[in-house]
Amino acid sequence: MNIQWYPGHMTKAKRAMKEDIKLVDLIIELVDARVPLSSRNPDIDELGRQKARLILLNKADLAGEKGNDAWISFFESQGIQAVKVDSRSRAGLKQIQAAVAEACREKIERNRKRGILNRPVRAMVVGIPNVGKSTFINSYAGKASARTGNKPGVTKGSQWIRLNKTLELLDTPGILWPRFESREVGLHLAFIGSINDEILDREELAAELIKLLSQRYPEVLPGRYGKEVQGGTHMTEAVAALEGIARVRGCVLKGNEYDLKKAANLLLDDYRSGRLGRITLEFPQGAGSVKEERETCQ
Ligand code: G4P
Repeated sequence: MNIQWYPGHMTKAKRAMKEDIKLVDLIIELVDARVPLSSRNPDIDELGRQKARLILLNKADLAGEKGNDAWISFFESQGIQAVKVDSRSRAGLKQIQAAVAEACREKIERNRKRGILNRPVRAMVVGIPNVGKSTFINSYAGKASARTGNKPGVTKGSQWIRLNKTLELLDTPGILWPRFESREVGLHLAFIGSINDEILDREELAAELIKLLSQRYPEVLPGRYGKEVQGGTHMTEAVAALEGIARVRGCVLKGNEYDLKKAANLLLDDYRSGRLGRITLEFPQGAGSVKEERETCQ
């Protein structure tokens, strides 16, 4: 499966974001906690040079707790503050204020020495499509925040939101496009639903997910769909598991043929929504056993 797709409007969006970044002190980068590396954009290191950085492991509710902790340690070992959050339920949002202060410590200290006190840190949120930027901004800014009105950002229609005395947030997130460095990265992004499904063969994608789950979380498929859906790491076993899901869930076409497309959609939706449990698909090198990771969130 060849996953390559670069929408034309991204070039324009990136240019606008470059201008917005000039206005901020801090870049808050959202990544998907299930695939924190695949959901990053390598351009951000270049775009964010000279700026304070904070990484939010968003959708932490869908990823394993041990995986989340391993990634926090990993990013901190790289000198980048990181916080795990669930923007939908607002879990973890309270820790952000302290992380912002830590990420911007040098800047705040420099200002203090120059007699500039109480100047709010200005931040913008960036990330790839569907990572949860809008949800995060809505949850974090909430109702209490006020639009400052007089200082537009560069992106058309964008505004600063004053969150409190110490932090202002640009209300328009910067959209980055992931770079498909490898087939694996493309697959990870497709599994979490971050790339346009229409360009993908759903059955093949589901079969690849079955292979990965069977290798790392062998109890997940039988746990969800029953003993007859064991999966396996070979394509033939994965297709057999997909047929098993079709059988168990009654995905049958006229003439009693299995509707594998429907079964594939069912599996992918179950994974994306967390119905298969909290599953991290990517770990920092050297992190502990993946098999111990699974925690059920139902
Ligand atoms: P974007 O601006 O980066 O493109 O992403 P957006 O906020 O639109 O979020 C994309 C999807 O991810 C939304 O689901 C949103 O609810 C979900 N989401 C965002 N943050 C979290 C999180 O921390 N945990 C979980 N579990 N989900 C999160 P959707 O199905 O597209 O929309 P909706 O059904 O929620 O309205």
